[in-house]
Amino acid sequence: MNQLFRKKAISDLLVEADGDGHGLKRALTLRNLVALGIGAIIGTGIFVLTGTAAARFAGPAIVLSFILSAFGCIFAGLCYAEFSAMIPIAGSAYTYSYATLGEFIAWIIGWDLILEYLFASSTVAVGWSGYFVSFLRDFGIYIPDKLCQAPFNHIPGQGWILTGSILNFPAVAIVLLITGLLVVGIKESNRFNTVIVIVKLVVILLFIGFGLSYINVDNWTPFIPKNTGTFGSFGVSGIFTGAGVIFFAYIGFDALSTAAQEAKNPRRDMPIGILGSLMICTILYVAVAAVLTGIVNYKDLNDPAPIAMAVDRTGKALMWLRPLIKIGALAGLSSVVLVMLMGQPRIFFSMANDGLLPKSFAKVHPKFRTPYITTIITGAIAALIAGVLPIGILGELVSIGTLLAFVIVCTSVIVLRKTSPDTPRPFKTPFVPWFPIAGILICLAQMVALPGDTWMRLIIWMSIGLLIYFFYSKKRSKLNGKS
Ligand code: ALA
Repeated sequence: MNQLFRKKAISDLLVEADGDGHGLKRALTLRNLVALGIGAIIGTGIFVLTGTAAARFAGPAIVLSFILSAFGCIFAGLCYAEFSAMIPIAGSAYTYSYATLGEFIAWIIGWDLILEYLFASSTVAVGWSGYFVSFLRDFGIYIPDKLCQAPFNHIPGQGWILTGSILNFPAVAIVLLITGLLVVGIKESNRFNTVIVIVKLVVILLFIGFGLSYINVDNWTPFIPKNTGTFGSFGVSGIFTGAGVIFFAYIGFDALSTAAQEAKNPRRDMPIGILGSLMICTILYVAVAAVLTGIVNYKDLNDPAPIAMAVDRTGKALMWLRPLIKIGALAGLSSVVLVMLMGQPRIFFSMANDGLLPKSFAKVHPKFRTPYITTIITGAIAALIAGVLPIGILGELVSIGTLLAFVIVCTSVIVLRKTSPDTPRPFKTPFVPWFPIAGILICLAQMVALPGDTWMRLIIWMSIGLLIYFFYSKKRSKLNGKS
């Protein structure tokens, strides 16, 4: 029993974080970190999900859903900022909980993060494929459905069905391409990421700037449409359900903490990177949601490419913006895939260093100094998942997994303040324990709002993880013999 709750000493972690033994290159500047953060955050959420969430749940009050969801993320973001400055190590929430809640919870969170990053990169790759196919179609190039859709789908009430498609080839291709980039090196991947982030920011700013003058304020009345009688269908409960759905849009700032071991000055830059990118995205999201529901009546917004649709509604004047929106979305989605695929191997890397996964997972490439084996394994699995599964199932799984990680990180901050009060904290979450408790409650509320099927899938995934822990990792933990 004691073995399950044995902890890594903070002092050992600090030596590990500062030492050069890990072999990862400290190449990331503050600018790179903010770009990585924005790169991970802005993606499918804003480009794909906003329209549906407004049309089905919240109406123009989707703006309030974005603000509500941002609060949960900011509380959790403050906790991530405290940890990543204090223990700047690649394992993120996994490592923080190893030091606070013990090995067993750490394993659970590590396994949960695998779910988040692996499935998030696949989810966004599927979104990318949709935009890519529609972009080509604008130029008269048609890809048959058989080659760009998932062969499996899940229909509530009917279960799993075969769609007749072969594979979502564009989704597979983007994952493999980005995996290649990540193997070659973090510096090169960051250059690619910075360019892409600039493109997507410019496109979003253009939409907000030019869209402003096409707003018809009548579309904002009523701002909170009356509830239809069903929980979550408009009214105040609709704002909450809307928040649960668009939560996906904020996922990613946490992935930034996996780059802490490669940051040049993590103690100063990690908190600014995490909180800065989260703030920038919150402001942009609220503005996009307001402009979008101002141009198009929320009832018409049930569209997988709502921003492009809003541009269409402005008539001929903004037609030039249409292809740019698609390019921005493609760029945006690529960078989310990049950061998620970058985060995943770094979690494997930390778990392998602790003996919980095979040693080869911690191997760093002699020339590129990247964790190439795990990058390739992650890329191959993510490509396969992206090729065969539909976006809805994947997205909900990612949200529940991420919310669970946030709950554990918020809890860990409270625990560590008690168990290790004197360890230097370059950044401190204010109002502990109240802010972390608020984060825990908002995240739990959003988890409860997710469908029962998603909970089942989470439980299955976690059960597989437990089997691996008890039959493999527990016996091989590097802490064996130390406690
Ligand atoms: N926040 C990321 C997105 O919306 C995961 O695509």
